[in-house]
Amino acid sequence: MCGIVAAVTQRNIINFLLESIQRLEYRGYDSSGLALINKNNDFIRVRSIGKVKELIKKTKNKKLSGKIGLAHTRWATHGKVSEENTHPHISSHIAIVHNGIIENSLKLRLFLQKKGYIFQSDTDTEVIVHLLHWEQKKTGKSLVEVIHNSVIKLHGNYSMVAMDSNHSSKLIAVCSGSPLIIGLGVGENFIASDQIALLNITKRFIYLKEGDIAIIKAEKTTIFNKNYSIVRRKIIESDVKYECVKKGKYKHYMEKEIYEQPDSIRNTLKNRLKNNTTIFFPELGLKEINIFLNVEHIQIVACGTSYHAAMVAKHWFESLANIPCDVEVASEFSSRKLAVRKKSFFITLSQSGETADTLTALRISKKLGYLGNLTICNMKGSSLVQESDIYLLTQAGIEIGVASTKSFTTQLTVLLMLVAKIVSIKQKKNNVEKKIAKILTILPYRIEEILKKNKEIKNIAKKLYNTKNILFLGRGDQYPIAMEGALKLKEISYIHAEAYPSGELKHGPLALIDENIPIIITAPKNLLLEKTKKNIQEICTRGGLIYIFSDAEINLEKNITLLKVPYVEEIIAPIFYIIPLQLLAYYIALSKGTNIDQPRNLAKSVTVE
Ligand code: G6P
Repeated sequence: MCGIVAAVTQRNIINFLLESIQRLEYRGYDSSGLALINKNNDFIRVRSIGKVKELIKKTKNKKLSGKIGLAHTRWATHGKVSEENTHPHISSHIAIVHNGIIENSLKLRLFLQKKGYIFQSDTDTEVIVHLLHWEQKKTGKSLVEVIHNSVIKLHGNYSMVAMDSNHSSKLIAVCSGSPLIIGLGVGENFIASDQIALLNITKRFIYLKEGDIAIIKAEKTTIFNKNYSIVRRKIIESDVKYECVKKGKYKHYMEKEIYEQPDSIRNTLKNRLKNNTTIFFPELGLKEINIFLNVEHIQIVACGTSYHAAMVAKHWFESLANIPCDVEVASEFSSRKLAVRKKSFFITLSQSGETADTLTALRISKKLGYLGNLTICNMKGSSLVQESDIYLLTQAGIEIGVASTKSFTTQLTVLLMLVAKIVSIKQKKNNVEKKIAKILTILPYRIEEILKKNKEIKNIAKKLYNTKNILFLGRGDQYPIAMEGALKLKEISYIHAEAYPSGELKHGPLALIDENIPIIITAPKNLLLEKTKKNIQEICTRGGLIYIFSDAEINLEKNITLLKVPYVEEIIAPIFYIIPLQLLAYYIALSKGTNIDQPRNLAKSVTVE
């Protein structure tokens, strides 16, 4: 989704802006642009549709120079992908870049048109910049005061950075429902949508809070909270290594992230398992333990891949802890009048911690009388982490590929530990915790084993990449895995993929089965296997092409391909069986030649509702 980078320095910043905005490409975008203030105090703006490399081409031979500037990657919401709609937008001496949506922009646009403003674009961003210009003309106040007075007129979740060519020593940033991070340098300061853009410059960051307005100068930053009082915000030393942002020996980030999973799980378990028998969350104090003691229901809300992790967790909460658990996609949770169960606890799952739908759901939940809330998140300092009562971090490391992989398996790792801990708290016995702690120590090795199946999976991918539709089936805790497998395939290969619970096949999808539709089934050896075998028979008799991932013996009829996988303990089977499906999606997309790390129309972090 839109990416913002801005800097105020003592040197020419053109190269910094271009490099940093390239680092935000992974978020998903369709055009990019930048603006500088030159030594004559004029704006120089360059914009281009397509990849940042097109913007770089346009800046070549232009000898651009400026010590203060803004850059932006745009993911179109208001107005088509065009150069006119690309940021930065300018109104006389004010330039801005913006992320998010201004919901009342149409009304404001009409107002400003009546005041004589002529719009060059269809964007809500241009509405903001003209509004700031109008307010400044009317009141004669400084840009920061004008921004402070104008934010109440702008409805929606957004962030923006502005600069004024009449006062070229400062940037003004607003964080209102969409993240912004100040990067602290020496004699220079920066601001960006996420730390990845700034990691090669600084490790010291300030995460702006909801409603903050910041004045960023080369020598100092001043932050006002929503009441316009000056506040000090905590400086966070990032432990993210810039090397994480490199592909190393891998062709794609997604490939690298799939193969990193044994280590990201090890990092997630580190300091949380004592003697391989006790699960330890330093984040959970006495207060939280008391809440879990009383909890009678869990509500989990998430989006995309995180939603599928939540669906697996439902099985664990109910089967291991005997706590009823409901799971809902965040946008739906926020779209209806909710009835909250008694003694219910609210959990959000998110890789980025910035997904607008999930954040909105959390904010709504706070008014509904839940016992408390927790987020399981991969990004320290993110909005969900800041706004939740408690947070548990997954230690997946930075995930760049738009299609989530290691964040899914690390979320599941934390969720399984959490369920085990809650069982011990509620049942006052730790046999489940002991068993799960032991199994979790084996999990990274199990994943290393299944990753060795990559060549066989690649061969299956070669047979499937020309297919138009693929069905994924799973039963019990494998159904969310089928959903996640189908999502991975859709996202990166653009092949239509649907997931069904195996038992539901006969209630409709069976009509689709013929020799042209491949069906992928994950079928671990467990109590549900016999039923799944019956479903396999139903498909076989109708000529469907079946690909099964299983550690069990399956009768091989002529249209069945079995990929025998190593043994895995039943409880961690969902974490294990997603690996072959991630690899399958990756190799299919590789054969198709799609843009694996930045699939069309998608964004890594979706900061608009
Ligand atoms: C976007 C990404 C998905 C991700 C979803 C939820 O749609 O493309 O890969 O699963 O957002 O993101 P979150 O950061 O909240 O887990």
